[in-house]
Amino acid sequence: MKRAVYPGSFDPVTLGHLDIIKRSAKIVDELIVGVLNNKSKTPLFPVENRVKMLEEVVKDIPNVKVMSFDGLLVDFAKKLDAQIIVRGLRAVTDFEYELQMSQTNLVLNKDVDTIFFNTSLEYSYLSSSTVKEAAFYGADISGFVPESVVNQVYDKIKEKKKEKRNE
Ligand code: PNS
Repeated sequence: MKRAVYPGSFDPVTLGHLDIIKRSAKIVDELIVGVLNNKSKTPLFPVENRVKMLEEVVKDIPNVKVMSFDGLLVDFAKKLDAQIIVRGLRAVTDFEYELQMSQTNLVLNKDVDTIFFNTSLEYSYLSSSTVKEAAFYGADISGFVPESVVNQVYDKIKEKKKEKRNE
């Protein structure tokens, strides 16, 4: 049984993430999308929302599950009995950070190895941060995130702006 973990913040999930999910799910028996519950960062969406959004977009891919995790990624992988970590590489700028992370993870647990997917050309510029920034200024983000996510991003940003005004 080949089980892989695709970890990330997914704040929010983009079409680039979805592309990696679809492609990696084809080469493993089971793919767990691991949503980091990072208490030191302040995400736009709480982890429960990020998990829900992902569950909606992967609902038609039978071998994909979504779970949240905190702590070390290799511990999460070990708990799931996963042998593979999947990450996407967009451009050379991702490389240094990803290499360092994969090497650290391999030292922490030599039984969990990382495989990289090059991001499809059409999504190579995409990131959750730029999606949030574009949405903040009212740009059309329908080409960046799955359809079911678009309005959730606008609504959450509206909510945050309102909270800020009332501070
Ligand atoms: O989508 P992101 O934010 O680039 O994903 C980063 C993620 C979640 C893969 C990374 O921050 C992570 O694995 N965090 C958990 C803590 C950990 O194991 N760090 C790496 C070894 S120090």
